[in-house]
Amino acid sequence: SRPPLGQCFNLYDFESVAKQVVNKGTWAYYSSGADDEITLRENHSAYHRIWFRPRVLVDVGKVDSGTTMLGSKCEVPFYVTATALGKLGHPEGEVVLTRAAGSHGVIQMIPTLASCSFDEIVDAKRGDQVLWLQLYVNKDREITKRIVQHAEERGCKGLFITVDAPQLGRREKDIRTKFDGAASDVLRYNPSVIDRSQGAARAISTFIDPSLSWKDIPYFKSITKMPIVLKGIQRVEDVLKAIEHDIPAVVLSNHGGRQLDTAPSGIEILAEVMPELRRRGLQDRIEVYIDGGVRRATDIIKALCLGAKGVGVGRPFLYAMSAYGEPGVVRAMQLLKDEFEVGMRLVGAKSVDELGPEFVDVRGIGVH
Ligand code: FNR
Repeated sequence: SRPPLGQCFNLYDFESVAKQVVNKGTWAYYSSGADDEITLRENHSAYHRIWFRPRVLVDVGKVDSGTTMLGSKCEVPFYVTATALGKLGHPEGEVVLTRAAGSHGVIQMIPTLASCSFDEIVDAKRGDQVLWLQLYVNKDREITKRIVQHAEERGCKGLFITVDAPQLGRREKDIRTKFDGAASDVLRYNPSVIDRSQGAARAISTFIDPSLSWKDIPYFKSITKMPIVLKGIQRVEDVLKAIEHDIPAVVLSNHGGRQLDTAPSGIEILAEVMPELRRRGLQDRIEVYIDGGVRRATDIIKALCLGAKGVGVGRPFLYAMSAYGEPGVVRAMQLLKDEFEVGMRLVGAKSVDELGPEFVDVRGIGVH
């Protein structure tokens, strides 16, 4: 049986409870990474090779964790990243995350493959709560256009086009578990064809257009005024291309280790990207976000030191939702907020804009 919520003291605690309470197929879909799961593990362990260079004797009586992302204010520099199929973990699905995010001033990215409709999610949010849309581009552009324009009409503040998934990665844990027909409700609103012969990921992803390319960027600009963000950039050359295409932000991400195995971790890509942008004087031309393996606020602080504007958190909130519903996600966010404040004090920074590369030693990830 489930321990009381008050006994969860960090994000890992929610993971172990979720593993006990969700069914096998859900666990396989949520937890899996591609192939040998090397990137999945590396995402978090890369943070362990970065050490702080704390500063002492600065007044940290009051710490301000607030920041802005894509021009929207938020209480903390992390956001809920898009994770599909919320109803596999909780009968109410993504709206559970929405309510929790609303109570903490946290931004939420809504997946194309959400199991609630965009309208249900908008209805669950607070007045000024900020939502973004994650987009898987459909081979049928009319469907994509409808999804994008509807989200914009409903006040969505950013369009995150996933660019690391022209084909879904091989997540063998998931493939071994056939997609449960009873769970088809989780995708009621999605236009895709469901192929039940394979795992959840493959079952729902056949509509994604593998021919998507840089040439399509003007099309997206023509159908929306929302800022267009590319999610899943993995090398500095592509960040430079994004700048050439006047893209205001990118997410350095390997999709939580679910796509190309042995792709680098977000934090390592960041350590490669930011010095190059600074060298070219381009660091203010684009906002850089990262996700993958963030489990401690010290991970977030390290990312901000290296130049990230914000950090996405995926599985931990899914696990908190699956284990305890809304109160679980509220507590998970509170724990991360509390850790963040402690971390800032001990590192010696009272606001996020004080953080910079001088606070970290990155020799352990091969950057000098
Ligand atoms: C994802 N992710 C994801 N990304 C995306 O662009 N569209 C999607 O539909 C999904 N779906 C999805 C489902 C599940 C169960 C997971 C775990 C992840 C990737 C996600 O946005 C993010 O890149 C990673 O989850 C970040 O890693 P962590 O925080 O889960 O370690």
